[in-house]
Amino acid sequence: MKITRIGIVGSGNIGGNLGIMLAKAGYEVCFSSRHPESLGDLVRTAGPTARAGSVAEAITFGDVVLLSVPLKAYRELDSETRQALHGKIVIDTSNPYPERDGAMAVEARQDPGGMGSVVARLLPGARIVRAFNSVYFEDLKQTVNKNGDTIGIPIAGDDQEAVAVAVELARSVGLDPVVVGGLTASKLFDVGTSVYATSASASEIKAKLSIE
Ligand SMILES: NC(=O)c1ccc[n+]([C@@H]2O[C@H](COP(=O)([O-])OP(=O)(O)OC[C@H]3O[C@@H](n4cnc5c(N)ncnc54)[C@H](OP(=O)(O)O)[C@@H]3O)[C@@H](O)[C@H]2O)c1
Repeated sequence: MKITRIGIVGSGNIGGNLGIMLAKAGYEVCFSSRHPESLGDLVRTAGPTARAGSVAEAITFGDVVLLSVPLKAYRELDSETRQALHGKIVIDTSNPYPERDGAMAVEARQDPGGMGSVVARLLPGARIVRAFNSVYFEDLKQTVNKNGDTIGIPIAGDDQEAVAVAVELARSVGLDPVVVGGLTASKLFDVGTSVYATSASASEIKAKLSIE
């Protein structure tokens, strides 16, 4: 699948910065917000291949969607947005934080299938792949860790085309993808795991998670 256009829903620390990196890597990017008029600086920083729009416009624009919102926002998405995500490859970066997301984050942390299962239930019909959730955004921007090694990006999904897209996007911005397994394997790099927010290299991630 050839990816040229990326729709970004949630243009904050992760969506905004990763969007800039993807635009500079040559993709056409549509940042979105519930207040798209606030995205002018982001679009200017990202350069000529970037634009801004509504959430609906970004989803329609993207060959794939980078969904980077707080977990609680999934419950706030309207039916039109859910419908638009149906059948789309959705790269999901979310993490469950009770102080921000409330009870649903407490439940999500206890889910035996990890966040992959949680998000798949919240967005039925979307082609979910988990990626970019385990790296602090300031580190992501640097692409290398304090040892000078390229930061690894654990990826998990059941949809092989969606996984391949996440691999391509990670590589295109100078990060090192590590496919961990199917969607429920995302629990291996959820919040609280040995690789979460460590900016570990791909080889460190593979060693910690016993991946070949
Ligand atoms: N910060 C990190 O280093 C980091 C690292 C990895 C993963 N994550 C995870 O990735 C997700 C995004 O984190 P972040 O730090 O980028 O958050 P953030 O800076 O707060 O940005 C999130 C964006 O989501 C949008 N949003 C909120 N509610 C929404 C809704 N109901 N519908 C549509 N958009 C909505 C907001 O945009 P508008 O208000 O403009 O609409 C906001 O700009 C979170 O789940 C977080 O846990 C964060």
